[in-house]
Amino acid sequence: MKTVQLSDGERVPALGQGTWRMGENKNSHADEVAALRLGIDLGMTLIDTAEMYGEGSAEKVVADAIDGQRDRVFVVTKVYPHNASRTKLPKACERSLKRLRIEVIDLYLLHWRGDVPLAETVETFEQLRSSGKIRYWGVSNFDVEDMKELFTIENGTACAANQVLYNLQHREIESGLLPFHEQSTNASPARTNHQLALMAYSPVGHGRGLLENATLKKIAKRHDGTPAQIALAWVLRQPGVIAIPKASNETHVRDNAQATEIELTKKDLAKMDREFPPPKSKQPLPVL
Ligand SMILES: NC(=O)c1ccc[n+]([C@@H]2O[C@H](COP(=O)([O-])OP(=O)(O)OC[C@H]3O[C@@H](n4cnc5c(N)ncnc54)[C@H](OP(=O)(O)O)[C@@H]3O)[C@@H](O)[C@H]2O)c1
Repeated sequence: MKTVQLSDGERVPALGQGTWRMGENKNSHADEVAALRLGIDLGMTLIDTAEMYGEGSAEKVVADAIDGQRDRVFVVTKVYPHNASRTKLPKACERSLKRLRIEVIDLYLLHWRGDVPLAETVETFEQLRSSGKIRYWGVSNFDVEDMKELFTIENGTACAANQVLYNLQHREIESGLLPFHEQSTNASPARTNHQLALMAYSPVGHGRGLLENATLKKIAKRHDGTPAQIALAWVLRQPGVIAIPKASNETHVRDNAQATEIELTKKDLAKMDREFPPPKSKQPLPVL
């Protein structure tokens, strides 16, 4: 499994699993747990969830999936912006820990920017880190200007990851955020060894038709694979990028796990560039 390095040298899998829309229907609980467990067995041991998903129910699905194998899994969850204050963040963290039935969150993200000053959220994340409740913290849906502002704040460069929308149909980050991430990671004198992972959400297009694309299907056929594998291999071609596809269906899980074995050729990439052109100028970060 390809890995991505975090700030202290720890490596996490570049291919993980998402959980948005899980936990919403009790009848699907067992299937969702089974899908995540299969994904873990196949090496997708990074799991992304959020207090928002099913208002805590997705975290409970994750709890059942990692039961008995917590040490194998890197657990990422997110706090609502309205809970990211000095008083509310520690309580939200406790609630997530309880639902996940774990002692420590591996990576805790601010789901998107809200009204709480960033400095207050960062200070509280750092306190949670010192008290052993979380191991790393990061952000989500932050564009370049938000990241620059974050880096001016005390301890802001301790941010371990930014989770954003990135797939063949949404290449906006290539016009700003992706080069910014690469620069931040390439040890500037001010931030030696600073590793900022980029987590790509909705990497197979959120079920909105990407996988029906004819070009993607043709390339998949040539590789004896599926459109989802090609879409994931395309996201994972970038160093420092983690993809977190969500799959509740076991066939999809198996499919996704094999995406890391696909080597896209220059010809494939050129075809995909023609079908899904990269942005020509700076585009704002889209949010799903
Ligand atoms: N930070 C944020 O603001 C944010 C926003 C969006 C998402 N996320 C995170 O990123 C994760 C992934 O994004 P997403 O759920 O929006 O979209 P996604 O992973 O791109 O797409 C999920 C959809 O694709 C289907 N699928 C998965 N693998 C497939 C395959 N191999 N073949 C065919 N279909 C496949 C799934 O079906 P089945 O479920 O039926 O298998 C589901 O309908 C989320 O679950 C969440 O953890 C974060």
